[in-house]
Amino acid sequence: MASTSNQHHLTQLIYVSKRSSAVDDSEARSILEISRKNNDKCGIKGVLLVLPEYFFQVVEGPSKNISELMTRVENDTRHSELRILSNKVLSDYEFGVWSMVNVDINTENSDSFVVLDRLAKAKSPTEGQLKGMYFIFKGLSQPTY
Ligand SMILES: Cc1cc2nc3c(=O)[nH]c(=O)nc-3n(C[C@H](O)[C@H](O)[C@H](O)COP(=O)(O)O)c2cc1C
Repeated sequence: MASTSNQHHLTQLIYVSKRSSAVDDSEARSILEISRKNNDKCGIKGVLLVLPEYFFQVVEGPSKNISELMTRVENDTRHSELRILSNKVLSDYEFGVWSMVNVDINTENSDSFVVLDRLAKAKSPTEGQLKGMYFIFKGLSQPTY
């Protein structure tokens, strides 16, 4: 199993991908379960947002482990058209509370949903859209006790 010791080189990736129509809620839950199990073992943290048509995911962790993870994820047929929206080097976790948290947003009546759906459909997301996405993720990933 990949090492968790190289904390000096953390990579954070944020991507959007098109959710396959074959992925129902129970399939989405099994993605979450396997993610938690695997990510726990290799120091990967993040957020997975499942929208009707898209996945958004933040993953952060030791750079080598992130690149190994992304090789698997990119080849996963449960989604397609994966696009990296942000790629940063970090010295500490920004979404470090969860090995993988799943967040629900109200898709009918939610500003966050509108922002993310527009971003997913945009050919070239604007700086403002990307900032908006980042703040939405930050807000969504706060633990609720
Ligand atoms: C949108 C999406 C996000 C995923 N996120 C993760 C993740 O964070 N960690 C993980 O281990 N697998 C994740 N997976 C699942 C991997 O693609 C893969 O199925 C899983 O890691 C098992 O790989 P293996 O069958 O090669 O062992 C994700 C899949 C999808 C479709």
